[in-house]
Amino acid sequence: MSKVKIAPSILSANFAKMGEEVRSLEANGADIVHYDVMDGVFVNNITFGLKMLEDIRPHTSLPIDAHLMIVHPEKYVERFAKAGADYITVHYEACKENLKEVLLLIKSTGVKCGAVINPDTPVEKIADIIPLCDIVLVMSVFPGFGGQKFIPEALDKLRAIKEIIDKSGKEIELEIDGGVTEENVAQIKAAGANVIVAGSTVFKAQDRRAIIEKLKA
Ligand code: DX5
Ligand code: ZN
Repeated sequence: MSKVKIAPSILSANFAKMGEEVRSLEANGADIVHYDVMDGVFVNNITFGLKMLEDIRPHTSLPIDAHLMIVHPEKYVERFAKAGADYITVHYEACKENLKEVLLLIKSTGVKCGAVINPDTPVEKIADIIPLCDIVLVMSVFPGFGGQKFIPEALDKLRAIKEIIDKSGKEIELEIDGGVTEENVAQIKAAGANVIVAGSTVFKAQDRRAIIEKLKA
C-alpha cells in the first residue's frame, strides 16, 4: 500500500488568516491541503473559489487537492488548474454520464484527476471509471459541512474500491473525507485509504503536529 498522507481540510480553518493556516499545516507535517469548494447549489453551503486558491498558493509547497462540490464542475476545471490545484476531484452526482469526459478534461490540464461518490451512491456507478482516475474519493459524510459523524458503510466502499484498484494494476490513490477521528483512523487505513482528509479533528486540536502524527502513525 502506498504511504498514508494526511490532508487537513481548510474548511475548518480561520478564513480571516488563511495564508497563516496553510503555512501552519505544512510546518506541522501535513502532506496535502484539502480545499473544499462549495457553491450553495450542489451542497447547502458556500465556501471559497478561485481567488482564495490563487492567494494561498504561494504560501505552501504542499499539493492542493480541490474537492469541487459544485454543479457543472467542467466549467471551472481549467481555471482551478491554472489557480494552482494539484488534484481536482469531481462528484459523480454532479457529472453523471459526463464523468469520464470531465476526468479527461482534468487530466488534459496536467492536474491529477479524481472521482468522488456520496454516501448514498454505490461503488458500481464509478467502477468502470476507476482505472482512469489518479485518485478516488469516498465521502463518509454527506458533503456540505465539517464536524459531522463518520458513516461506517464507507469502509465497505473503500474495500470494494481497493480491490478494483489492485486488479487494475495502476497506482491510484484512495481518499476518505468526512468524520475522520483519532478513534476511527486505524479502521479507515485498514480498509485501504491512503489519503485521509481531516478537518475539525486537525483544527480543533491544541497541537496540530501531534494530531497529524497520530493520524499518520
Ligand atoms: C465535507 C467536506 C470535508 C470536510 C471534512 O463536505 O468535503 O472535506 O471539511 O470535515 P471533517 O473532517 O470535520 O468531517
Ligand atoms: Zn472535502
